[in-house]
Formats: sequence, structure tokens, C-alpha cells
Amino acid sequence: MIEITGCSRIRARVGVPGDKSISHRAAMIGAIAEGETILANFSPGADCLATLDCLRALGVAIECPPGRVSIRGVGLSGLREPADILDCGNSGTTMRLLAGILAGQSFVSVLTGDASLRNRPMGRIIQPLRRMGATVDGRENGSKAPLFIRGPSPERGCGLLPLRDYTLPVASAQLKSCLMFAGLYARGTTTLLETTPSRDHTERILRLFGAKVRATGGSIGVDGFPRLQARHLEIPGDISSAAFWLAAAAISPGSEVLVESVGLNRLRSGFLHALRRMGCPVEVSPAKDGWEPSGDVRAVGGTLHGIEITPEEVPSLIDEIPLVAVCAAVARGKTIVRGANELRHKECDRISAVIENLTEMGVPCGETPDGFWVEGVDRLRGGFIRTHGDHRIAMAFAVAALAAEGETVIDDADCVSVSYPGFFEVLGRLSESDSAGRVPGHGLD
Ligand code: S3P
Repeated sequence: MIEITGCSRIRARVGVPGDKSISHRAAMIGAIAEGETILANFSPGADCLATLDCLRALGVAIECPPGRVSIRGVGLSGLREPADILDCGNSGTTMRLLAGILAGQSFVSVLTGDASLRNRPMGRIIQPLRRMGATVDGRENGSKAPLFIRGPSPERGCGLLPLRDYTLPVASAQLKSCLMFAGLYARGTTTLLETTPSRDHTERILRLFGAKVRATGGSIGVDGFPRLQARHLEIPGDISSAAFWLAAAAISPGSEVLVESVGLNRLRSGFLHALRRMGCPVEVSPAKDGWEPSGDVRAVGGTLHGIEITPEEVPSLIDEIPLVAVCAAVARGKTIVRGANELRHKECDRISAVIENLTEMGVPCGETPDGFWVEGVDRLRGGFIRTHGDHRIAMAFAVAALAAEGETVIDDADCVSVSYPGFFEVLGRLSESDSAGRVPGHGLD
């Protein structure tokens, strides 16, 4: 539990932890590459640490000296059967992506997680992995974790069957990445069809490590059994973590926040466009265009107005939608979010959590099956926030609390550690800041 009181304005320069999505992928690909992969600015969140622990249990030597992670890759076929169940904690990315790799192994593995993760839909990965020839099952008729996974045995000929022109039934980067990873263990080329593009970190990192990945017009092809070569990478700051501080500035007139070295992949930066459309000046500079583009992002607080979020743009800001709701709560007019049904299957049902908590803060709003509407108010009212153990709900409403009258209590402060340990320390310093002082990010050291 944590209490937060409103503050007048924020002026700060902030660093954020390394990108969570990229950290998961880089660690998993490093584990099945040949040689030592070194990852600087690896995400310190419990989700990514769960990925490292699972990889260790699969026989991969991983060390975490200050500021980086070193992974001794075992090669595509070097993973070992784990002696126990693999615990993915709260992390959907760990479970879904690792399942793709494990589907290609001839040994047995069982993946579990906390109560939230065990309630999330897994049928979307189980069905296509079965089509590729893996034995995969789960609770509730193969739709929920724990998951049991065994890939093809050597006697059945080496490798999985490639999926050909498989249309992804949901716009999910986790599903896409799971199948791309399984595709590394398939005899031939796996082709996936995406109707709405989702984050392409897997495509980028796999290419960087030497895999053959072709992505054209919504079709993604990955060749089986590539030779993956270890790399040394600097992981950019997490735009989903930066979004909290940008929103904190946006909802408070006279505020200004600069977040340094943030990943700016265009399939992840929908929140910056949404903020601009709401009337918030957002500047990006200088954009480095490496294997993942990155740069500094500045947002300035002022008057916001309501916008509409369309189904097509949802994947580019899926994790930032609770923050869109918080910005909408102080914007002039109405904001409508459509096509965001996936939010019901995150760490909690984020549509109902957003509506429950905005209502508590005195904001007129309502839910629809695949989204919600919010009518902005002049001033938020402090209240009791129910996070449902969901880190992004906790952090979004902690930001809302900064702009609220009176005190806000967040029922669970610890849940933020899955993606952003140290979030509340930064928030505390930010709410006292009226200077251009730098608030450091939090690395593994
Ligand atoms: C993620 C993809 C998104 C996002 C999640 C991380 C990833 O999920 O919500 O926090 O790293 O691939 P979906 O792709 O399942 O929507």
C-alpha cells in the first residue's frame, strides 16, 4: 500500500530501465545462439529475471555483473531438460515466447506462473504449436497454464513442421514471437500473416543474430535451423516506462519532463502520437536509428482534449491504454477507445480496472465490450485505487494521483516490480522536483 498526494508541477530529466520486451527476446535468443551474448541496460524487472531463471534451469550459464547480463549461448540444440517446473511468475512474455522454443526440444518441460498468468489465454499458442507437431497441453482443455510441452522426438525425424501462411487470429506480438521461435526448429520456412502489425522486436533481434527473417506486407517468414551468432547489445530505455513520466507532465500544466534514451520503435510509440493528438507538445530528439531506433523524448503539460483510439492503432500503445485513460480523465471532452478487447486478457482485466478506478476518482466513464469512454473533468479526486496486482494499473493511477485533489491510496505498491522496480522512488523525487535535476533510472546494479 502507498499514499500519494497531488503536486503542483513537475520539471525533470529522467532515465528509465531497459526495455522489457527487448530484454526478454535478447536473453532467449542469446541462450540459443553460439558464443557469449552481453546485454547492457537489461530490464531489472522481475518479469525479465524470471526469463533468466528459466533459461538457467534449461542449462544456460548466465551472470549478471553490474550493469549487464552475460549469457553463454548453448546453440540451437544445446538446451537441457529442466529438473523442475519452470516458473514464469507474472510474465506472459516469458511463458508464451519460451513455449515456442520449448516446442522445438525433444525433452519435456512444464511452464507455470502466478494466479494471474495461470488465468490468461494460452489456447492461442497451444493450437498452432500442435499443428507444428509439438505435444502441448494445459489446464481447462488446453487453454490455460500450467503448460506441458514436448517437441518432436529424434525418431520422428528432426524438427517441427513449418506453418504455411498461418493467419494470426489476434494481433499479439507474444503469439507471433512464440511461433517465430518455434519456426527456428522447423524443417523449412514458417510464414505468418498479420492483419494488424504488432511490435517487431523479435524480427529485428533474430536478424541481428543471423536468422533469415523476411517481413513484407503483413507476411513474416522465418527459416528453420539458422546459425545464431552471439552479439553485444545495448538495450534502449523502455518506452512503456517512459510513458508514465510523459503522462505525468502532460496532465499537469506548467510541467515538463525529458526522458533520456528511450526506444522509439514505431510499432511501440503509439502513445506519443496519442499525446500529440490530445494537444500535448511531444518532441523527440535525436533519434538514433540503430537495430532499434532510440532518442530523448520531451513532453510539456497544458490543456488536453479528448480523442478517439481506433482498433488499428491499439497494438502500438496496448500497454499505455491505462495511461491514455488517465490523460483523458483531465482532458476537455470525451475520449473513446475501441478495438482493445485484448486488454481484458492482460495481467488483469484492464478495461474494468481502468473504469473502476476512474469512477473512484470522480470521472464519468463507462466500459464497452472492447474498450471504454471517458469524459474529462477539471480536477481528479483522490481515492482508493484497486490495482488487482497489475503493475501498469498501479503506475498509471499513481500518475493520476499526482494531479488529484487530496490523497490517493494505491492498494499494492509492490506489483510495479515486475517491470519497474524503483518506480515509486522516482515518483517521490519527481513530485518534489521543480528543477531540471536528473532523476536516474534503475539498472541491474
Ligand atoms: C508484449 C506484447 C504485448 C504487451 C506485453 C508485452 C511482448 O502483448 O501487452 O506487455 O513483449 O511481446 P500482446 O502482444 O500479447 O498483446
